[in-house]
Formats: sequence, structure tokens, C-alpha cells
Amino acid sequence: MNFAPATAPSMATRTSGPSPRSLHPRPALASSFQGRACPYAFKSGARPVRVHAVAPACVAAPVELKTGKPKREEVITGAPDNNVTDYIYEKMGADLHRQADHPIGIIKQAIYDFFEARNPGMFRTFDDRYPVVTTRANFDEVLVPADHVSRNPNDTYYVDANTVLRCHTSAHQAETLRAGHSAFLVTGDVYRRDSIDATHYPVFHQMEGVRVFNEEDWKAAGVSGAELAEKDLKAALEGLAKHLFGDVECRWIDAYFPFTNPSFELEIFFKGKWLEVLGCGVMEQKILDENFEPGHKAWAFGLGLERLAMVLFDVPDIRLFWSNDDRFLKQFKAGDLSARFKPYSKYPSCYKDMAFWVSPEFSENNLCELVRNIGGDLVEEVALIDNFTNKKTGRTSNCFRITYRSMERSLTDEEINAIQDNVRKAVADELKVELR
Ligand code: DAH
Repeated sequence: MNFAPATAPSMATRTSGPSPRSLHPRPALASSFQGRACPYAFKSGARPVRVHAVAPACVAAPVELKTGKPKREEVITGAPDNNVTDYIYEKMGADLHRQADHPIGIIKQAIYDFFEARNPGMFRTFDDRYPVVTTRANFDEVLVPADHVSRNPNDTYYVDANTVLRCHTSAHQAETLRAGHSAFLVTGDVYRRDSIDATHYPVFHQMEGVRVFNEEDWKAAGVSGAELAEKDLKAALEGLAKHLFGDVECRWIDAYFPFTNPSFELEIFFKGKWLEVLGCGVMEQKILDENFEPGHKAWAFGLGLERLAMVLFDVPDIRLFWSNDDRFLKQFKAGDLSARFKPYSKYPSCYKDMAFWVSPEFSENNLCELVRNIGGDLVEEVALIDNFTNKKTGRTSNCFRITYRSMERSLTDEEINAIQDNVRKAVADELKVELR
């Protein structure tokens, strides 16, 4: 899902060379959480989408606090809208963010520590919220417009028409406010259908932060509620950036998110480049009014933990976070932000090109999903390398390059050829394209 304003530069940390994605007739990337574009940085209607209807408004049900790994039949349901695959189900419950010595867990804890030091005892932390949520929580309650691209089943995993695997931790904003919390951090795994490369993986981790102010707070500060929220937000997040990355220069970029107004992105100057770190803003008043008491103001932010961990620890490929290889895991220790990943070996890659006439069923996300299901984590990148339309017939041909590489071992020609054969068959059958 790439949904950023067309004007801003790409902030994705591309470790795999220049992006052939510029061939795509879509806007350049700007915002990128954990190395991934942020769909919410785009206003609605930015590209034509088939969307699910907004769930009907209803009285808030009591929060059902399920935890743990969902059962397979809870997410692979056979419902007409169900697009969760076994590959995705297998990733659920890994809880990388709850492992103290894992880079994702280390970053999470460092952020918790920062907020605890800044405002002792103020922030409640939650890191076991159930990843299966209603479309109401994921979209409606945070004011994602009815025609917003992120509602498209091409971009989001649907369990059924009214239930999704959360595609952002913002899905927990409203319910946590309703439970009466006025300052909180929610960390969890989030799920998105997307392209495949070194910084994109269909499961990753986010943290949501919210702080609510009351009238006494802004009177004491001698400013308006909105001014206090914006000022405290910027001070907190600049402090956080310095806590994680050292004495870096920070800059604020105006942004758009459905849930905040005004909205901003924070960038830091790190290793010679401006890097986007997170999205944030003053919470849309409607969210606060509908889920908290009247007469308050709040700020909110959302950040991607993989993105921060890749930048901070020099991790070159997002798949490494899912590795069970001790040569990766043993390089990190709880509480240590100074570790820098030392590659143990870079195994050779192998690529296969595949050209076909596209069909209405075809989308790059569908292709990537299919390739992942067959090739698993051996797939390093799927990139469009050629694209043309035959003037006479009006048919469009795409050529994709699939790069295979293991993080752990050398691959044999036979196994890659077998995978690629299966990919070609499945592409022709399921995506109804005509191979060339
Ligand atoms: N939910 C956004 C995303 O996944 C991130 C985000 C941006 C969260 C701004 C926020 C916010 O709370 O204020 O891309």
C-alpha cells in the first residue's frame, strides 16, 4: 500500500538498490513506517477503490479483551471476503515485540522507558491487544473515510466483511479512550497486503501513543488546548528521537492523516540522510468527544518498530527479524541500543523474470501474496521491470523480476526452479494472466 503525497521524497529505506517501482503509475512514496508506506498519509479517493461499506453506528459494546494467538478458524473462515492465508496465519502469535532480547522488543522497551522517564507513572502500556478487530475499530472509529484506499481488500486482510487483521495500532485508540485511559502506548503486530522488498513484510509492528489534556493543563501553560497538545507532542517526540538515535537534528513536515488535525511527520537527519520516523498530530476532536469526556484535547502518534530497528541497528533486510538463526538473534541484548548488525554472510541471490498480459484480476499485491505463499521467506523482492501497452490491441504486458535469497544458506538451482514453476502455474491459474 503506497499512499503518500506525491510531492514528498521517498523515505523508504531501500537497501536493495534503485526502485524499479517508479514504473508504477502511482505516486512516489513519502511516508514510511518501519520501512513501509503509510496509507493514511493519503486523502480518500486518491485512486479508485472497491471498498467495504462503513459499519453501521451502534452503541459501543463492552470491550472484549481477548489475548493470545487466534485459532486458525477464527481468521481463515471461508467467508466470501476472507483473504487471510495460511502463510499469514503462521506469523500470528510470534510476539516479536514481547521478546526482551529481540530488536523489535528492545526498541519497544526503549520507547516505554523514554515516556516513563519523561512523565513517571503517566503512560499505561498495552502490548497484548488482540490483532483481529472490527472494521469499525480499524477504520470508522478513527475516521478513515468510506472510500479510503486502506479499506480495499487488495490492501487489508479481511476475516469477513466486518472483521480485519488490524492494519494499524490506531485501531485501539477509541476503545482505550473509552476504557478511560488518558495516556497510553499500544504496541502490536499489524498486517498489510503489500509489495515485497527488503523493507516490506506483510506482518510488522507498530506503536500507538496518545495523551489527553484537560482545561487545567492548558490554563496552567497559558496557551490554548490545541497549542498545548501540539507543543507537548513535538517536545515529546523530538526527545524520543534523541533518546533512540543520539543528538540528531529533527524537522517537522506537514502531513495528512484522517485521525489528526493538524498532522505532522517527524524526520531526523541520520547517517547523512533525512529519514521519516513517525506520523502524528493533534487528535481529531470527534474521536475524543465520542470516546472520552467532553472538554479535552489530545495528541496521538503512530510509529513502525521495524523501520526504527532497521535504521538504528543497521539491519539490511526486514525478513531477518523473523529469523530463528542465532547468528542474528545473539547480536542483540535487552537494553542495548548500541548494537550494530554484523552480516554473518550474504548468500547469493538468484532472480527469475516473468512476463504476462495482465487481466482485470491482476494486481501487484495479489501477485506478491501468491509469490509469498509459494516461496515463503526465500522471496527477497518482486519488482516490475518492464511495462508496456500494445497500441493496436490495448493489452498491457508486465514483466516482474522475482529475486530469491535465503538469509541462512545457499539455495540450489533445483529448488528455485521448482518454486518458480509453481509460481508461474499459480499466476496463470489464479490471476488469470496470459504468460508470454
Ligand atoms: N496509523 C498510521 C499508519 O499506520 C500511523 C499514525 C499516524 C498514527 C498519525 C497516529 C497518528 O496515531 O496520529 O500509517
